[in-house]
Amino acid sequence: MDEIKLIKMYMDDEIKTEVLKVLESGYYIKGPNLKKFEESFKEYLGVKHAIGVSSGTAALFLAYNELNLMPGDEVIAPSHTFIATVSPLAFFKAKPIFADIDPDTYCMDIEDVKEKITSKTKCITPVHLYGHPVDMDPLMEIAREKNIKVIEDCCQAHGSEYKSRKVGNLGDIGIFSFFPSKSMTVGGDGGMIVTNNDEYGEILKVRRDHGRSTKYSNENLGLNFRLNELQAVIGRLQLKHLPEWINKRREIVEFYNDMLKSFHSIKTPADKEWAKTSYYVYTIQIENRDRFIEYLNSKKIATGIYYPIPVHRQPIIEKIYGKQPKLSNTEEIVDKIVSLPLSPHLTKEELNRIKSEINNYMEK
Ligand SMILES: Cc1ncc(COP(=O)(O)O)c(C=O)c1O
Repeated sequence: MDEIKLIKMYMDDEIKTEVLKVLESGYYIKGPNLKKFEESFKEYLGVKHAIGVSSGTAALFLAYNELNLMPGDEVIAPSHTFIATVSPLAFFKAKPIFADIDPDTYCMDIEDVKEKITSKTKCITPVHLYGHPVDMDPLMEIAREKNIKVIEDCCQAHGSEYKSRKVGNLGDIGIFSFFPSKSMTVGGDGGMIVTNNDEYGEILKVRRDHGRSTKYSNENLGLNFRLNELQAVIGRLQLKHLPEWINKRREIVEFYNDMLKSFHSIKTPADKEWAKTSYYVYTIQIENRDRFIEYLNSKKIATGIYYPIPVHRQPIIEKIYGKQPKLSNTEEIVDKIVSLPLSPHLTKEELNRIKSEINNYMEK
């Protein structure tokens, strides 16, 4: 019996052919595939600028860099996220201020964000976690009122919609990751920065490539954060499938929700009426989580925990910024959350196997 993996990688003949063409072309950076990928990503999101970069973390670093953060400036972000949401801040001597989450959506709680705004708040970084969008209207309202920038971390939310608008399009800058587990990937690391702000759009394009406008003319400070042609061609071809994959993910989520609805000890994910979630992972809460995981793993069904240690409790965060205040909702769920396999390429048989093993476990 094969293992049912948490995530399945996608590859087809068209991708293989086009990758080979890039390899044979000898044209590996700053070529036509990057341009085409950026154009189609822009079109897909309905955004003015899309800038391919080498990872989601690189995208965050570059986005924060545009905010002219000064030592002691504060950036409000959730702790229930991947550490890269806030790790670039230390390079600018800026400080993350962690907001708690809404226990239903796992996204940052806007009321808690409001309470944490001070005169030093320069930026808010909402994370559309697991694909579910953050409640952006009240967040943008308070940010505009207080002149605070908003960087949307969309690394887990390719194609997710908030009130019929795609995420990435709602704040000042949006950033995406194409890390191999994401809803669309590039065959390695990759990322994208998007913005409707022309000034950010122009300068970010330059900064990801040594700050240069021509080969040997460097008017701006920059580094090498480029996305190469092999990654770009895969991204461009995967993007074509994304709408269909999102629908498939949503169908699987419905299947899981239906399968679990009679088990009152399991909490299934919420989908707010204003959200069209693209579901990066399917996360439930269950008591005795470790026993549940052990059982499924023994039946060759993989599981994941996103994330077992909240960022505000990470050793490096405590080392740099000292012990952080308690976040009740975040800390409450940490020992209960577990994610089931989710991929548009899961077969009916695999889904039925998961269903029957969960039923077996729950009936024990
Ligand atoms: C919420 C979030 N932010 C940032 C990142 C960083 O992206 P990358 O791994 O492409 O650097 C990830 C993905 O790993 C993520 O899930």
